[in-house]
Amino acid sequence: MKITIGSDHGAVELKDAVKKILQELNCEISDVGTFGKDAVDYPDIAEKVCSEVVSGKSDRGIVLCGTGIGISIAANKIKGIRCSLCNDVFSAKMSREHNNANVLALGGRVLGFGPAGEIVRAWIETNFSGDERHNRRIEKISALEE
Ligand code: RB5
Repeated sequence: MKITIGSDHGAVELKDAVKKILQELNCEISDVGTFGKDAVDYPDIAEKVCSEVVSGKSDRGIVLCGTGIGISIAANKIKGIRCSLCNDVFSAKMSREHNNANVLALGGRVLGFGPAGEIVRAWIETNFSGDERHNRRIEKISALEE
């Protein structure tokens, strides 16, 4: 699976920890930055990650900022993106099974590396259920974009 990942300055260390988990899961990684402590604007990172998901260059994306909140809000403004901010494994699984989330958001100032790793593993390894009722609801989300 190909994953595009990006963070603002509030989650650079967690981004690096998440990349190690993705490597263990044999994912191909596209890292769009940021790579240092200098402040950047999280909407710019959301746009870079999500454009690779929407274009099909990557299968899914992971976005990170200090809380995960700002970057998830920005990601969800982009047509075709269903971004889930997850602070626990159950939400990560449900966001895949029920919502077919194609982008995961994490907060670098919220989560420790251990819990974040478990969330990422669950999110990568869980498939969309494909149930008719969930498809119908996702189609209604898409209709809201129009
Ligand atoms: C940056 O200081 C911070 O606002 C950002 O990382 C994020 O937490 C916003 O939601």
